[in-house]
Amino acid sequence: MPISRREFLTTAGKSALAAYPAMMALGLLKTAPAHAFELSGSGNNKRIIILGAGLAGMTAAYELSKLGYQCTILEARNRAGGRCWSVRKGATLQEQGQPLQTAAFDNGLYFNAGPSRIPHHHALTLHYCRELGVPLQVYNNVNEAAYYFSEGKGPLSNKKIRIREIHNDVRGYITEMLAKAIDQHQVDAALSKEDAAKIIEYLRAEGGLNIDKLYKASSRRGYIEPAGAGEQAGKIADPYRLTDIISSGLMDPDFYNVAEYTYELQMTMFQAVGGMDRISAALEKKVAPFIQFGCEVSAIHNQADGVKITYRDKSGEKQLNGDLCICTIPLPVLSNIDHNFSSDVSRAIDYVPYMVTGKMGLQFKRRFWEEDEGIYGGITHTNNELTQIFYPSNDYLGRKGILLGYYNFNETAAKVSALTYQQRQQLALEKGAMIHPQYTKEFETGFSVSWHKTPYSMGGWALYDSESRQTLYKALLMPDKQVYFAGEHMTYLNAWMAGAFESARSVVAAVHARVTDQRLSYPQTH
Ligand code: ALA
Repeated sequence: MPISRREFLTTAGKSALAAYPAMMALGLLKTAPAHAFELSGSGNNKRIIILGAGLAGMTAAYELSKLGYQCTILEARNRAGGRCWSVRKGATLQEQGQPLQTAAFDNGLYFNAGPSRIPHHHALTLHYCRELGVPLQVYNNVNEAAYYFSEGKGPLSNKKIRIREIHNDVRGYITEMLAKAIDQHQVDAALSKEDAAKIIEYLRAEGGLNIDKLYKASSRRGYIEPAGAGEQAGKIADPYRLTDIISSGLMDPDFYNVAEYTYELQMTMFQAVGGMDRISAALEKKVAPFIQFGCEVSAIHNQADGVKITYRDKSGEKQLNGDLCICTIPLPVLSNIDHNFSSDVSRAIDYVPYMVTGKMGLQFKRRFWEEDEGIYGGITHTNNELTQIFYPSNDYLGRKGILLGYYNFNETAAKVSALTYQQRQQLALEKGAMIHPQYTKEFETGFSVSWHKTPYSMGGWALYDSESRQTLYKALLMPDKQVYFAGEHMTYLNAWMAGAFESARSVVAAVHARVTDQRLSYPQTH
């Protein structure tokens, strides 16, 4: 029997303790923000100059303006969001050494050239989506129906193979081997009889082994003839031979099961409904009055008191003085900007390497990967220049769609990015058509982004190793006089929006502690 909210309040109100969760469930109470950021004291109109209207810069301005600071954000581009960029019709990009590229996608279609997925444990990112009213949807990062495709290697060369076939064959063979070794006492570990039996039982379940502890293909690897009504029992193919899997490179790092093993890539993952740029757009709305677009910073100078920023906009060179500066400019870009920082900071700016990475969005007339191949989201892995094809996790069963024709890294990305836009597209189409012959007939238009060649970014994300964490990273963690550094490169969350958000809060806490002479730390412990 449904009860009205009013009835509920009168009856449930009698037992306040029991009522609280129930009231939350009815939407009568707001949940306490998981990530409250409640700093006290006023910024007293101190002038903060923020360099960069990416997620870190805008979040810092958003939080500082709540505290009574006067913020100015200088942004070199004519758009906000930085790397949080969804490419839609009319979007433009002029990479270094390339002509202007304009996206010709249909209205309403897009691809996320930068961040495209949010781990479920990036609580602050989720918090800001909630605070800013950006709806999220599940991003399908794991799809056993997508393919492995090994080009030019071994007996399984150039064959598209459903991921579930390889996963289950490999799991089956490896568990069979291990079970055999345990049976024959060939495993070094001193196992009690009971433990050995337990492990064998586990291996049988994990690998899908039969009663004799042998791997025989099962429905785990899918059907070649589907099961159905009446006499249609379904048909399972023979497994691939382990030796063929190995010599075809399907156990090489190109095909590691990263999506399940990497903490950040484990499901559940999310994306913003309508494009990740909905997050930057929502932030931009909050800080729009503070942003000056088309302002390319050429010098950052600490003064005896305050900071002086030199920049160039349409009307020429200008200067802006502030009390403090938050610099979110990616380090490879900052490296070409004049400054008077300490030698340690200067070295860090010049020497932290960034990821070489590229993505290409391809629009097709028809979602053939769904209609013909039953692939709804997820990733196909290759050992060729594409590295990966990502199928969209939105608008399933729709008409048209944009998939990521490639998402590559390091030398592969460098090689592809050295091509013209046209050649990149040709490559994406040729290699993609080896997996999906439908490409040829259904392709409409494409757009590629090489982040390391993209002005004002010049890289995917910061890359640290254990040594540079101790030296270069540490040098940037402290402000250089009046200049603070923020952005994903100022965290251990490189390559994630979470890095931008966490670093923004961290820098806001540091600035506010200095201005109000308080001891503050972020993350807050209360
Ligand atoms: N965060 C980046 C990604 O999702 C590395 O691919």
